[in-house]
Amino acid sequence: MFCCLLRPNNAYTLFIIIVTLILSNNVAKSYRAVAVIHGILTGSDSMETITNRIKEMHPGTQIYNTQRYAGWSSLEPMWRQVEEIGNDILSIGAAFPEGINLLGYSQGGLLARAILQRFPDHNVKNFISLSSPQAGQYGTRFLHLIFPDLMCETAYELFYSKIGQHTSVGNYWNDPHHQELYYKYSKFLPLVNNEKNKTVSKYGLIKLDKMVLIGGPDDGVITPWQSSQFGYFDKNETIVEMHNRDEYKNDLIGLKTMDKQKKLIFHTVPGIPHFEWHKNISIVDQFILPYLN
Ligand SMILES: *[C@@H]1O[C@H](CO)[C@@H](O)[C@H](O)[C@H]1NC(C)=O
Ligand SMILES: *[C@@H]1O[C@H](CO)[C@@H](O)[C@H](O)[C@H]1NC(C)=O
Ligand SMILES: *[C@@H]1O[C@H](CO)[C@@H](O)[C@H](O)[C@H]1NC(C)=O
Repeated sequence: MFCCLLRPNNAYTLFIIIVTLILSNNVAKSYRAVAVIHGILTGSDSMETITNRIKEMHPGTQIYNTQRYAGWSSLEPMWRQVEEIGNDILSIGAAFPEGINLLGYSQGGLLARAILQRFPDHNVKNFISLSSPQAGQYGTRFLHLIFPDLMCETAYELFYSKIGQHTSVGNYWNDPHHQELYYKYSKFLPLVNNEKNKTVSKYGLIKLDKMVLIGGPDDGVITPWQSSQFGYFDKNETIVEMHNRDEYKNDLIGLKTMDKQKKLIFHTVPGIPHFEWHKNISIVDQFILPYLN
């Protein structure tokens, strides 16, 4: 009916529009845009193995590899980074109303998780956390670059202070032997975990299609490595895996809900040291590309 009301000229225009829609749909059908957040003390260039592989295997994918907080500035407080990179993620999402995917490596994966919760209006579909200290960090190996004499046992004296909280690492330093101080001083991790009060939205995670948690026992930096999958040490440095932690049991950030909805995906890969996750093509092919639809 509609068609018959149009003059030939308009019918032709309509034809062009329909053809254009079909063609652009074929192109757009391809892959969602991907936002990428690098790890600590590095920058966007460190993520190029991944971004180049995505471009090669999923041609036409738009990739936003953040250049913010590279190098030393990656040590700035987590909330500051969350605000700034989070606003970028929202802008990117606005340009792609059909939704985007998000990938964070190491500290970048924890920033990404906090961004999703802090900005629950995001339109991220799949979030890939590549060896990130989601439940915190209690190991100094990578920190020796910055603090050569820092010891795990005493690092809390530095990090659980007003000054220490001005560093990103201090914000997610989780000393199993000084939990009272952790809850008292840490301005970030207990808050993004909704452990103090309901600071962030759990809807920000629950609305994802998938949260993919990649980590492995030979990581060597993320300590315990299970932190990459929301497991952590108890007081005795015994691992309590995600399902047995209060965080999960009380569904503080939606992990339990997501688990029930089969939205949580775990990939435990042995043999990969921390600084190889983002350099290994086979990791990208097996555990990242399948979620970049
Ligand atoms: C509760 O959350 C608000 C921010 O939402 C924060 O300002 C306040 O300090 C929090 N309270 C505690 C006890 O952490
Ligand atoms: C720690 O170990 C001691 C002795 O082995 C045990 O009695 C205690 O229950 C353990 N605590 C936790 C939190 O597992
Ligand atoms: C890359 O990762 C795969 C596991 O997916 C592993 O078998 C292989 O040894 C790794 N390659 C390098 C160079 O580390």
